[in-house]
Amino acid sequence: MALLDDHRLLVTGVLTDDSLAFAIARRALEEGAAVALSSFGRGMSLTRRTARKLAEVGEVGEVIELDVTDPAQVRAAAVTLEGRFGRLDGLVHAIGYAPPSCLGSGMFVAPFEDVATALHASTYSLAALVGALRPLLARSSAPGGASVVALDFDGSRAYPQYDWMGVAKAALESLGRYLAREVGPDRVRVNMLAAGPLRSIAAKSIPGFSLFEDTWADRAPLGWDVNDTSVVGDAAVALLSPLLRATTGAILHVDGGAHAMG
Ligand SMILES: NC(=O)c1ccc[n+]([C@@H]2O[C@H](COP(=O)([O-])OP(=O)(O)OC[C@H]3O[C@@H](n4cnc5c(N)ncnc54)[C@H](O)[C@@H]3O)[C@@H](O)[C@H]2O)c1
Repeated sequence: MALLDDHRLLVTGVLTDDSLAFAIARRALEEGAAVALSSFGRGMSLTRRTARKLAEVGEVGEVIELDVTDPAQVRAAAVTLEGRFGRLDGLVHAIGYAPPSCLGSGMFVAPFEDVATALHASTYSLAALVGALRPLLARSSAPGGASVVALDFDGSRAYPQYDWMGVAKAALESLGRYLAREVGPDRVRVNMLAAGPLRSIAAKSIPGFSLFEDTWADRAPLGWDVNDTSVVGDAAVALLSPLLRATTGAILHVDGGAHAMG
Protein backbone atom coordinates (compact mmCIF):
# COMPACT_ATOMS: atom_id res chain seq x y z
CA MET A 1 0.00 0.00 0.00
CA ALA A 2 1.32 3.46 -0.92
CA LEU A 3 1.52 6.31 1.62
CA LEU A 4 -1.22 8.46 0.07
CA ASP A 5 -3.54 5.80 -1.38
CA ASP A 6 -7.09 7.13 -1.62
CA HIS A 7 -5.97 10.65 -0.59
CA ARG A 8 -7.52 13.60 -2.44
CA LEU A 9 -5.36 16.70 -2.38
CA LEU A 10 -5.35 20.30 -3.53
CA VAL A 11 -1.83 21.48 -4.38
CA THR A 12 -1.57 25.23 -4.99
CA GLY A 13 1.53 26.99 -6.32
CA VAL A 14 2.66 24.78 -9.21
CA LEU A 15 4.04 27.19 -11.82
CA THR A 16 7.08 25.49 -13.37
CA ASP A 17 8.88 22.24 -12.67
CA ASP A 18 11.20 24.28 -10.40
CA SER A 19 8.24 25.11 -8.12
CA LEU A 20 8.41 23.49 -4.70
CA ALA A 21 4.77 22.49 -5.22
CA PHE A 22 5.74 20.59 -8.39
CA ALA A 23 8.04 18.32 -6.38
CA ILE A 24 5.25 17.81 -3.83
CA ALA A 25 2.57 17.06 -6.44
CA ARG A 26 4.81 14.60 -8.29
CA ARG A 27 5.75 12.75 -5.12
CA ALA A 28 2.13 12.70 -3.93
CA LEU A 29 1.00 11.22 -7.27
CA GLU A 30 3.72 8.58 -6.99
CA GLU A 31 2.30 7.70 -3.56
CA GLY A 32 -1.17 7.12 -4.98
CA ALA A 33 -2.89 10.48 -4.32
CA ALA A 34 -5.46 12.11 -6.59
CA VAL A 35 -4.21 15.68 -7.02
CA ALA A 36 -6.00 18.87 -8.07
CA LEU A 37 -3.81 21.83 -9.05
CA SER A 38 -4.64 25.52 -8.83
CA SER A 39 -3.08 28.62 -10.33
CA PHE A 40 -4.15 32.15 -11.18
CA GLY A 41 -4.17 34.93 -13.76
CA ARG A 42 -1.36 34.88 -16.27
CA GLY A 43 0.23 31.92 -14.48
CA MET A 44 -2.66 29.65 -15.61
CA SER A 45 -1.15 28.79 -19.00
CA LEU A 46 2.26 28.07 -17.47
CA THR A 47 0.66 25.84 -14.84
CA ARG A 48 -1.38 24.00 -17.52
CA ARG A 49 1.85 23.32 -19.42
CA THR A 50 3.58 22.08 -16.25
CA ALA A 51 0.52 19.97 -15.37
CA ARG A 52 1.07 17.94 -18.55
CA LYS A 53 4.38 16.73 -17.10
CA LEU A 54 2.61 15.70 -13.89
CA ALA A 55 -0.10 13.94 -15.90
CA GLU A 56 2.63 11.47 -16.98
CA VAL A 57 2.79 10.37 -13.31
CA GLY A 58 -0.95 10.43 -12.44
CA GLU A 59 -4.29 12.11 -13.02
CA VAL A 60 -4.35 15.85 -12.22
CA GLY A 61 -7.45 17.02 -14.13
CA GLU A 62 -8.26 20.60 -15.14
CA VAL A 63 -6.22 23.31 -13.38
CA ILE A 64 -8.51 25.28 -11.06
CA GLU A 65 -8.33 29.09 -11.25
CA LEU A 66 -7.71 30.36 -7.72
CA ASP A 67 -6.35 33.80 -6.91
CA VAL A 68 -6.17 33.50 -3.14
CA THR A 69 -6.68 37.24 -2.71
CA ASP A 70 -10.10 37.04 -4.43
CA PRO A 71 -12.78 35.75 -2.01
CA ALA A 72 -15.13 34.85 -4.89
CA GLN A 73 -12.47 32.62 -6.46
CA VAL A 74 -11.75 31.00 -3.09
CA ARG A 75 -15.47 30.17 -2.70
CA ALA A 76 -15.72 28.93 -6.28
CA ALA A 77 -12.69 26.66 -5.84
CA ALA A 78 -14.35 25.05 -2.80
CA VAL A 79 -17.44 24.30 -4.93
CA THR A 80 -15.30 22.88 -7.75
CA LEU A 81 -13.38 20.65 -5.34
CA GLU A 82 -16.57 19.44 -3.69
CA GLY A 83 -17.85 18.40 -7.13
CA ARG A 84 -14.58 16.75 -8.13
CA PHE A 85 -13.61 14.99 -4.91
CA GLY A 86 -16.48 15.28 -2.40
CA ARG A 87 -13.91 15.68 0.35
CA LEU A 88 -10.28 16.74 0.83
CA ASP A 89 -7.57 14.79 2.67
CA GLY A 90 -4.85 17.36 2.16
CA LEU A 91 -4.10 20.93 1.15
CA VAL A 92 -0.70 22.29 0.15
CA HIS A 93 -0.30 26.08 0.45
CA ALA A 94 2.73 26.98 -1.68
CA ILE A 95 1.95 30.62 -2.31
CA GLY A 96 4.13 33.63 -1.74
CA TYR A 97 4.12 37.08 -3.26
CA ALA A 98 5.49 40.46 -2.23
CA PRO A 99 5.74 43.66 -4.33
CA PRO A 100 9.37 44.52 -5.22
CA SER A 101 9.55 47.30 -2.59
CA CYS A 102 9.16 44.66 0.14
CA LEU A 103 12.34 42.76 -0.70
CA GLY A 104 15.92 43.97 -0.71
CA SER A 105 15.30 47.62 0.29
CA GLY A 106 15.21 47.28 4.06
CA MET A 107 12.13 47.92 6.20
CA PHE A 108 11.53 51.63 5.54
CA VAL A 109 10.84 51.80 1.82
CA ALA A 110 7.69 49.73 1.25
CA PRO A 111 4.45 51.67 1.81
CA PHE A 112 1.80 49.91 3.89
CA GLU A 113 -0.25 49.12 0.76
CA ASP A 114 2.62 46.98 -0.54
CA VAL A 115 3.12 45.30 2.83
CA ALA A 116 -0.62 44.61 2.97
CA THR A 117 -0.47 43.02 -0.48
CA ALA A 118 2.40 40.77 0.65
CA LEU A 119 0.57 39.72 3.82
CA HIS A 120 -2.69 39.14 1.95
CA ALA A 121 -1.17 36.81 -0.65
CA SER A 122 1.46 35.12 1.51
CA THR A 123 -0.11 34.88 4.99
CA TYR A 124 -3.85 35.67 5.23
CA SER A 125 -4.45 33.41 2.22
CA LEU A 126 -3.73 30.35 4.38
CA ALA A 127 -6.61 31.28 6.71
CA ALA A 128 -8.85 32.09 3.74
CA LEU A 129 -8.19 28.71 2.13
CA VAL A 130 -8.44 26.61 5.28
CA GLY A 131 -11.64 28.45 6.24
CA ALA A 132 -13.28 27.88 2.85
CA LEU A 133 -12.15 24.26 2.57
CA ARG A 134 -12.77 23.32 6.19
CA PRO A 135 -16.04 21.44 5.49
CA LEU A 136 -14.26 19.32 2.84
CA LEU A 137 -11.19 18.76 5.05
CA ALA A 138 -13.42 17.75 7.97
CA ARG A 139 -14.91 15.03 5.74
CA SER A 140 -11.51 13.40 5.19
CA SER A 141 -11.53 9.63 5.36
CA ALA A 142 -7.74 9.40 5.78
CA PRO A 143 -6.55 7.67 8.93
CA GLY A 144 -5.85 10.54 11.32
CA GLY A 145 -7.84 13.03 9.25
CA ALA A 146 -6.78 15.75 6.83
CA SER A 147 -3.41 17.51 6.62
CA VAL A 148 -2.65 21.10 5.66
CA VAL A 149 0.98 21.86 4.74
CA ALA A 150 2.18 25.45 4.20
CA LEU A 151 5.52 26.27 2.60
CA ASP A 152 7.59 28.44 4.89
CA PHE A 153 11.05 30.00 5.15
CA ASP A 154 12.48 30.13 8.69
CA GLY A 155 10.64 33.04 10.32
CA SER A 156 12.59 32.96 13.57
CA ARG A 157 15.46 35.11 12.31
CA ALA A 158 16.08 38.22 10.21
CA TYR A 159 17.82 37.24 6.96
CA PRO A 160 19.51 39.71 4.60
CA GLN A 161 17.25 41.02 1.78
CA TYR A 162 14.18 38.98 2.81
CA ASP A 163 12.71 41.96 4.69
CA TRP A 164 8.87 42.10 4.67
CA MET A 165 8.63 38.58 3.24
CA GLY A 166 10.40 37.44 6.41
CA VAL A 167 7.73 39.20 8.46
CA ALA A 168 5.04 37.52 6.33
CA LYS A 169 6.63 34.11 7.00
CA ALA A 170 6.94 34.73 10.74
CA ALA A 171 3.22 35.62 10.75
CA LEU A 172 2.47 32.51 8.69
CA GLU A 173 4.16 30.36 11.33
CA SER A 174 2.04 31.95 14.05
CA LEU A 175 -1.11 31.63 11.93
CA GLY A 176 -0.34 27.93 11.45
CA ARG A 177 -0.43 27.43 15.22
CA TYR A 178 -3.72 29.31 15.61
CA LEU A 179 -5.31 27.38 12.74
CA ALA A 180 -4.04 24.11 14.23
CA ARG A 181 -5.80 25.01 17.47
CA GLU A 182 -9.05 25.86 15.72
CA VAL A 183 -9.40 23.02 13.22
CA GLY A 184 -7.79 20.24 15.29
CA PRO A 185 -11.18 19.16 16.69
CA ASP A 186 -12.28 18.48 13.06
CA ARG A 187 -9.28 16.11 12.77
CA VAL A 188 -7.47 18.60 10.52
CA ARG A 189 -3.81 19.24 11.23
CA VAL A 190 -1.80 22.27 10.08
CA ASN A 191 1.98 22.25 9.77
CA MET A 192 4.71 24.40 8.25
CA LEU A 193 7.40 23.02 6.01
CA ALA A 194 10.31 25.46 6.30
CA ALA A 195 12.55 24.86 3.30
CA GLY A 196 16.07 26.11 2.65
CA PRO A 197 16.66 28.24 -0.46
CA LEU A 198 15.71 26.59 -3.76
CA ARG A 199 15.94 28.07 -7.26
CA SER A 200 12.28 28.66 -8.19
CA ILE A 201 10.82 31.61 -10.10
CA ALA A 202 9.80 33.25 -6.79
CA ALA A 203 13.30 32.77 -5.36
CA LYS A 204 14.97 34.29 -8.42
CA SER A 205 12.86 37.43 -7.89
CA ILE A 206 14.48 37.96 -4.47
CA PRO A 207 17.34 40.45 -4.84
CA GLY A 208 20.57 38.98 -3.50
CA PHE A 209 19.24 35.41 -3.57
CA SER A 210 22.75 34.24 -4.46
CA LEU A 211 23.79 35.38 -0.97
CA PHE A 212 21.53 32.68 0.46
CA GLU A 213 22.75 30.15 -2.07
CA ASP A 214 26.41 30.84 -1.34
CA THR A 215 26.16 30.59 2.44
CA TRP A 216 23.48 27.93 3.03
CA ALA A 217 25.54 24.91 2.06
CA ASP A 218 28.35 26.06 4.38
CA ARG A 219 25.99 26.58 7.34
CA ALA A 220 24.01 23.36 6.90
CA PRO A 221 25.69 20.37 8.57
CA LEU A 222 24.05 18.09 6.01
CA GLY A 223 24.98 20.40 3.13
CA TRP A 224 22.39 21.87 0.76
CA ASP A 225 21.67 21.69 -2.97
CA VAL A 226 19.68 24.74 -4.21
CA ASN A 227 18.50 22.74 -7.24
CA ASP A 228 17.14 19.70 -5.39
CA THR A 229 13.43 20.21 -4.63
CA SER A 230 12.91 16.47 -4.09
CA VAL A 231 13.79 16.88 -0.39
CA VAL A 232 10.72 19.13 -0.05
CA GLY A 233 8.52 16.69 -2.01
CA ASP A 234 9.50 13.79 0.26
CA ALA A 235 9.03 15.72 3.52
CA ALA A 236 5.67 17.13 2.40
CA VAL A 237 4.39 13.66 1.60
CA ALA A 238 5.38 12.56 5.11
CA LEU A 239 3.38 15.47 6.58
CA LEU A 240 0.42 14.74 4.31
CA SER A 241 0.43 11.05 5.17
CA PRO A 242 -1.07 9.30 8.20
CA LEU A 243 2.49 8.69 9.45
CA LEU A 244 2.45 12.18 11.04
CA ARG A 245 -1.20 12.07 12.16
CA ALA A 246 -0.33 13.22 15.72
CA THR A 247 1.67 16.26 14.59
CA THR A 248 0.07 19.69 14.25
CA GLY A 249 1.07 23.31 14.83
CA ALA A 250 4.66 22.27 14.06
CA ILE A 251 7.43 23.61 11.85
CA LEU A 252 9.37 20.94 10.01
CA HIS A 253 12.71 22.35 8.83
CA VAL A 254 13.88 20.88 5.54
CA ASP A 255 17.06 22.90 5.19
CA GLY A 256 20.03 20.64 5.81
CA GLY A 257 19.97 21.76 9.48
CA ALA A 258 21.07 25.36 8.79
CA HIS A 259 18.38 26.97 11.00
CA ALA A 260 19.73 25.21 14.10
CA MET A 261 23.37 26.28 13.75
CA GLY A 262 25.03 29.21 15.55
N1 LIG B 1 12.20 28.77 -3.33
C1 LIG B 1 12.63 28.93 -2.08
O1 LIG B 1 13.82 29.15 -1.82
C2 LIG B 1 11.66 28.79 -0.94
C3 LIG B 1 12.14 28.46 0.33
C4 LIG B 1 11.23 28.34 1.39
C5 LIG B 1 9.88 28.55 1.16
N2 LIG B 1 9.46 28.88 -0.10
C6 LIG B 1 8.00 29.09 -0.28
O2 LIG B 1 7.49 28.12 -1.15
C7 LIG B 1 6.28 28.61 -1.71
C8 LIG B 1 6.28 28.35 -3.21
O3 LIG B 1 7.29 29.15 -3.82
P1 LIG B 1 8.32 28.61 -4.90
O4 LIG B 1 9.69 28.96 -4.42
O5 LIG B 1 8.00 27.23 -5.31
O6 LIG B 1 8.07 29.63 -6.13
P2 LIG B 1 7.04 29.61 -7.36
O7 LIG B 1 7.22 30.93 -8.01
O8 LIG B 1 7.20 28.41 -8.18
O9 LIG B 1 5.63 29.56 -6.61
C9 LIG B 1 5.00 30.68 -6.04
C10 LIG B 1 3.53 30.48 -6.34
O10 LIG B 1 2.72 31.46 -5.69
C11 LIG B 1 1.62 31.65 -6.53
N3 LIG B 1 0.89 32.86 -6.18
C12 LIG B 1 1.38 34.11 -5.95
N4 LIG B 1 0.36 34.96 -5.70
C13 LIG B 1 -0.80 34.23 -5.76
C14 LIG B 1 -2.17 34.51 -5.60
N5 LIG B 1 -2.61 35.77 -5.33
N6 LIG B 1 -3.07 33.50 -5.72
C15 LIG B 1 -2.67 32.24 -6.00
N7 LIG B 1 -1.38 31.90 -6.16
C16 LIG B 1 -0.46 32.88 -6.06
C17 LIG B 1 2.23 31.70 -7.93
O11 LIG B 1 1.25 31.48 -8.92
C18 LIG B 1 3.24 30.57 -7.83
O12 LIG B 1 2.64 29.36 -8.27
C19 LIG B 1 6.20 30.09 -1.31
O13 LIG B 1 5.37 30.21 -0.18
C20 LIG B 1 7.64 30.41 -0.94
O14 LIG B 1 7.73 31.49 -0.06
C21 LIG B 1 10.30 28.98 -1.14
